[in-house]
Amino acid sequence: MPSEKTVLITGASTGIGRVTAEFFAAKGWNVAATMRSPEKSDLASKSDRIKLFKLDVTDQVSVDRAVQDVIGHFGGIDVLVNNAGYGLLGPFEAQTDEQIRRQFETNVFGVMNVTRAVLPHMRERKQGRIVNVGSAAGRLTLPLYSMYCATKWALEGFSESLWFELRQHNIKVKIIEPGMIKTDFFERSREVATKEGLTAYDEFVSLVMPNLKAWEDAGAEPVVVARSIWRASTSFWPRLRYQPNATLSVWARGWVPGHLSVRLVRRLFNAW
Ligand SMILES: NC(=O)c1ccc[n+]([C@@H]2O[C@H](COP(=O)([O-])OP(=O)(O)OC[C@H]3O[C@@H](n4cnc5c(N)ncnc54)[C@H](OP(=O)(O)O)[C@@H]3O)[C@@H](O)[C@H]2O)c1
Repeated sequence: MPSEKTVLITGASTGIGRVTAEFFAAKGWNVAATMRSPEKSDLASKSDRIKLFKLDVTDQVSVDRAVQDVIGHFGGIDVLVNNAGYGLLGPFEAQTDEQIRRQFETNVFGVMNVTRAVLPHMRERKQGRIVNVGSAAGRLTLPLYSMYCATKWALEGFSESLWFELRQHNIKVKIIEPGMIKTDFFERSREVATKEGLTAYDEFVSLVMPNLKAWEDAGAEPVVVARSIWRASTSFWPRLRYQPNATLSVWARGWVPGHLSVRLVRRLFNAW
């Protein structure tokens, strides 16, 4: 029997967001696939359950309008998937203030903008789920990704604390922590910071980058994340965190002392 449930997904133009949109549509859900440039996307042609909405997570006006349009069109939002995000790569000293702020505007404040817009609606209905796409880089750290890690660690704290206060309103918060996934993330959605005349990190970068690349190349398909998002959206199990493709290093972070897990990551990425 077709479900009348609706999911709103941010950053659904490519990668995890797009595959998740198709996954939910195949399960019979209404899908509000939101993105910055819907006019460039063919996603709506994949299923008549998918409708595109324009939404830039850094623009509160666009967020509020999209949320109201989705509620107007589908009658409600059962699950919000905060997926939009990108990665700033490079030594911290090479990153400009503007680059750092933009990274937080998208990966942290963007999530807050959309969550804030959806919460009154979910509270009113006394039900809902907020599924935040974090990262394994929100549990451990990767060399040369200091700001990306900072945003994903912030998302962990935000989500976990929100979990307490939203329980009373029957709104469940979930965090998805993917490892490396084969998407546009390492090309189109990666911003590389360099600074003219700054050579002090060149050797470190040349040691780490081939190892990062090898990890990226061995990444899992985005559908494994879509499956976790689906479980987080539908399971009655009161679980907060989902790790679609957990690696030894993520596991180690939870079970061994911090200084040892940092040494493990240092060795894995040749970050001496
Ligand atoms: N790939 C991985 O290995 C990996 C691992 C862990 C976590 N993640 C997380 O997974 C999420 C999705 O990434 P992905 O791997 O699927 O990469 P992706 O294919 O590059 O998708 C990123 C999406 O975010 C959107 N986006 C960026 N800035 C936005 C903004 N201001 N407003 C609305 N949308 C915006 C992009 O839209 P445009 O098309 O408009 O640019 C794109 O749809 C991110 O949060 C990322 O941090 C990825």
